[in-house]
Amino acid sequence: MRTRTVIEPFRIKSVEPIHWTTRPQREALLRAACHNLFQLPADAVLVDLLTDSGTGAMSTRQWAAVMEGDESYAGSRSFDRFRDSVRDIFGFRHVIPTHQGRAAERILFTVMCRKGDVVPNNTHFDTTRANVEFVGAEAVDLLIPEGREPGLRHPFKGNMDVEALENLIERVGRERVPLVMLTITNNSGGGQPVSLENVRAVSAVCRRHSIPLYFDACRFAENAYLIKLREAGYEEKTPKEIAREIFGYGDGCTMSAKKDGLANIGGFLCTNDDTLAQQEKNLLILTEGYPTYGGLAGRDLEAVAVGLQEALQEDYLRYRIASTAYLGNHIAAEGVPIVQPPGGHAIYIDARAFLPHIPQQQFPGVALACEFYLEGGIRSVEIGTLMFGEAAKMYLVRLAIPRRVYTQSHIDYVVEVILEVWRHREQVRGLQLTYEAPFLRHFTARLMPVEAAATQPA
Ligand code: F0G
Repeated sequence: MRTRTVIEPFRIKSVEPIHWTTRPQREALLRAACHNLFQLPADAVLVDLLTDSGTGAMSTRQWAAVMEGDESYAGSRSFDRFRDSVRDIFGFRHVIPTHQGRAAERILFTVMCRKGDVVPNNTHFDTTRANVEFVGAEAVDLLIPEGREPGLRHPFKGNMDVEALENLIERVGRERVPLVMLTITNNSGGGQPVSLENVRAVSAVCRRHSIPLYFDACRFAENAYLIKLREAGYEEKTPKEIAREIFGYGDGCTMSAKKDGLANIGGFLCTNDDTLAQQEKNLLILTEGYPTYGGLAGRDLEAVAVGLQEALQEDYLRYRIASTAYLGNHIAAEGVPIVQPPGGHAIYIDARAFLPHIPQQQFPGVALACEFYLEGGIRSVEIGTLMFGEAAKMYLVRLAIPRRVYTQSHIDYVVEVILEVWRHREQVRGLQLTYEAPFLRHFTARLMPVEAAATQPA
């Protein structure tokens, strides 16, 4: 049978206008933002691929559920629905709502880690790394070597290096490793999935040393679907069955429902450990809220309860993964260097290979992201030296695709803009920092083009 176009599995009921700007306007806006795209007003962006976090479109079912929100301070019916939906998929005993993923991370690491501890992960995301370091522990990335070669094809480039994990535990001692984390999919490493074989192997090492295994589960549904597509033995399983199997190997998770929860805000922390859960709830009450709402409105809990289930629907996931690959394959076909193969939520461009004339101290990723904005009003994000400093292993620009928001013609436009920049890439200049904050500096950094800086009066 001839394969047909994978279409958006929805029709549009409510629309939100987007705004065109002229190139001179964008030049002025970029200068005013000090070459930091986080500082742009969102209305000055035409297609916003800064993040897939909290930017998705909710379904009619989710909006209907919002009206059912029970805003009771304690014992809310909405919490019951939220907890039941989470338990149905994740299976953990305790479900603790938080306002977003990083709140779950802060509570988890505060309760489990002490100064001098070491937390291994396939790759920590920026907030995860910052929260580990904030409690005085060390965040160690143990990605398989294939995961650090942008152009290399491997079905599970998010896998953890199991031997490196064994060696680390042996070197620092089991008592200094309070938990092991697996990030599914591996966001900082290209949105690449972790295989079930790898989950089993990591879990076996953890069990042998009695170390709890936690998942950073933000994009668990995309990871589950990529397992279905790429791992032998899972072709006939549903994404939900695969997700349940993954979490069955763990002791808990942190989750940002702004990704595969298909909600605009929300998150949670899960654990099977009764003692930890009590300590976590105590901390939750201190800063987030009572354990039946945890910093969220009842209506937000309802939206997440429905969204988690919708994120596992196969027609949605088929479209989601196909539309991400569509962007990646169309630019790669013209020679643009991307992380291969395309991942779940985003396409990552290898900025160093795209702009080999810009040294890494001059932030080739930031320079490239700025150029996409100047050329076509597209906002993307650097995932490289500005974000991770010395810890950066790759120099990438991420084009993250919000869920159910843009159509194929938006993506065609993005392809055209990127190819235009590809054609005049030699003209792109590097940048230098004029201000940086002590941590998570990429959000507030100020930069300027290097030549311009050199000619500034002292
Ligand atoms: N873990 C991963 C893998 C993430 O990608 C994120 C957020 C978080 C944790 C934190 O969740 O934002 O709800 O506090 N990533 C967003 C992004 C911000 O753009 O990739 P949060």
